[in-house]
Amino acid sequence: MSVEIARDVAALRNAVARWRAEGARIALVPTMGALHEGHLALVHEARIRAERVVMSIFVNPTQFAPNEDFAAYPRSFDRDAAAFVAAGGDLIFAPEVTEVYPPGFVTKVSLGGPATAGLEDKFRPDHFVGVATIVAKLLIMAMPDAAIFGEKDYQQLAVIRQMARDLNLEPEIVGAPTIRAADGLALSSRNVYLRPQERAKAPLLHAALERCRAAILQGAAVDTAVASARDALIEAGFAVDYVAARNAETLAPVVARENGPIRLLVAAWLGKTRLIDNIGV
Ligand code: PAF
Repeated sequence: MSVEIARDVAALRNAVARWRAEGARIALVPTMGALHEGHLALVHEARIRAERVVMSIFVNPTQFAPNEDFAAYPRSFDRDAAAFVAAGGDLIFAPEVTEVYPPGFVTKVSLGGPATAGLEDKFRPDHFVGVATIVAKLLIMAMPDAAIFGEKDYQQLAVIRQMARDLNLEPEIVGAPTIRAADGLALSSRNVYLRPQERAKAPLLHAALERCRAAILQGAAVDTAVASARDALIEAGFAVDYVAARNAETLAPVVARENGPIRLLVAAWLGKTRLIDNIGV
């Protein structure tokens, strides 16, 4: 089995045009590589929707702040390519940074709504502009029928949906459920940073959300349930950026279940590793 690799936009567009001429539907799975089962579940979702599946592998520098882990971000192209082929993928788009951002590149997507909800954006101020700009570019480069994103980055998914709607971007934006390890930890390429004791503690993040959900469903006040989750995480040694109950669609704060379907979202540090997670209530 072999996979086609496109290193530039022209090669990507040639392949897509060839498949379109055959009447194929095309789905795109944007990634930064370091593939795990969560990414492969996105490929599976893509295969349900399209005859041809493209994966982009591009560690996008513009979504990392200078103090973040761009240089250290895990890169494993050969392993990723093998896993993608085994999952039934057709083409990997893996451009160099200069292909995506040639000298003189200045345009950025300007955001509001879910991008300013006070969650990730509060702690990573320029992050979503970088994400939205690369995702807009990837969608325009590949022109797929559908693009698949994980719900693990829940605010990112909301930002991308809003942008696609506002900019009349054609592809259907599809969210796919978070894949978890047996102990509940959401799969993430950054989990490799966790030291053994931290990895042992990490499932408490999901457990705290589950307990919070159960308390709300049993009638506890939303604020109280969220505060208990935060306290439990701090007690366990996490440095908490936020625990929040938000409207699942708008990401606006909710004070009661009547404020709409609730999504519980968390971001917290274990040592030098920042973990995020979310669940629906
Ligand atoms: O979720 C990710 O891996 C990235 O943010 C994305 C969507 C591929 C954009 O670089």
